[in-house]
Amino acid sequence: MPTLGPRQSGALHRLERTMPFSHGYPVATDIDYRRFGRFLNHMINNCGDPWHDPIYPGHAMDAERDVLAWTADLLHAPPGWHGHMTNGGSEVNLDALWQARTKLPNAIVYTSTAAHYSVRKACDLLGLPVVPVATDRYGEMDYASLRALAGRHRARPAIVVATCGTTFTEACDKVPRVHDALDEAGIGHRWIHVDGALALIPRALTGDGGWFDLTVANSACFSFHKFLGVPMPAALVISRSSPHRPGPAISYIGVPDTTISGSRPGLAALMACYAIDRYGHDGHRHRTELARDLADYTSQQLTGIGWPTWRNPGAFTVLLRPPPRHVTARWALPVDGDWARLICMPGKTRRHINTLITALKQT
Ligand SMILES: Cc1ncc(COP(=O)(O)O)c(C=O)c1O
Repeated sequence: MPTLGPRQSGALHRLERTMPFSHGYPVATDIDYRRFGRFLNHMINNCGDPWHDPIYPGHAMDAERDVLAWTADLLHAPPGWHGHMTNGGSEVNLDALWQARTKLPNAIVYTSTAAHYSVRKACDLLGLPVVPVATDRYGEMDYASLRALAGRHRARPAIVVATCGTTFTEACDKVPRVHDALDEAGIGHRWIHVDGALALIPRALTGDGGWFDLTVANSACFSFHKFLGVPMPAALVISRSSPHRPGPAISYIGVPDTTISGSRPGLAALMACYAIDRYGHDGHRHRTELARDLADYTSQQLTGIGWPTWRNPGAFTVLLRPPPRHVTARWALPVDGDWARLICMPGKTRRHINTLITALKQT
């Protein structure tokens, strides 16, 4: 096999050197996808609506449909649900907000100040006005603020983007409480989207689904490259309604154009499908429990050395007082204000945490 060029060798060297110390980003590393090497010689493109097979044979639409059906079942989606995969988490938020705007053209979007930056960007692209809603000190939406803000615009429908696992503190907004706030504000027409990039699947599997599943929300999404550790960005959006732009098949691809991006990564669908089949509900629940145990262990170790720390219940994310710059840089720990973030994703072990604790003790 020809050897890699200097750019590729350099990238590989950097990945192998830095990734074992990378504790600040939500990437699971316990599922081995190396068996997919044989697929790398094929351009696998899921283009267009996943419920039809395109003319181009290099697709994996069946795998995408399997992942969607699994998710629909987990989230108790009612009959008539629809969904598709995307190139990442920002695109699913854009897609969900586009669907919501189609149903409620005159709506105002409410989302917490802890929501991912892609939500504001999507609203900007769609020309939707956004009202930021305060959070409590742990990052969960403040429902009293939502009620007060929505009450000022009760003549207009509401689109609320709730987050299941906020980017920095992994807080989870509770959709039933969003409904209560909108009821009290006198708003009838609404669309609730749940951005569950990181936490939707582990939370749904461990009993929190009633806060955000499709019996209470209109749409939801999660990313494949976070909890499932798929080694390329991809995500999925699922909604209770049928596609908002069904349309006829596009002749040159042979399927309807219901998605934002045309080309979508078929290999990611195959990998997510593999992760789902290989582990099943019990296996993914176990992965979740191991990661939460490690987060508990990390909190205890930090407390043991007198390092201020806190964590939202059930979260993989541990917040800690920002260590000195050389430590945050080596362990790739992002800092926001008074706190740094460490995420105990499946694949991390006590050995990883112990190394970091030793470094903190030496500061
Ligand atoms: C809550 C949340 N939503 C959306 C995203 C966006 O995902 P992507 O970077 O795949 O576009 C992230 C990324 O970290 C996130 O944390």
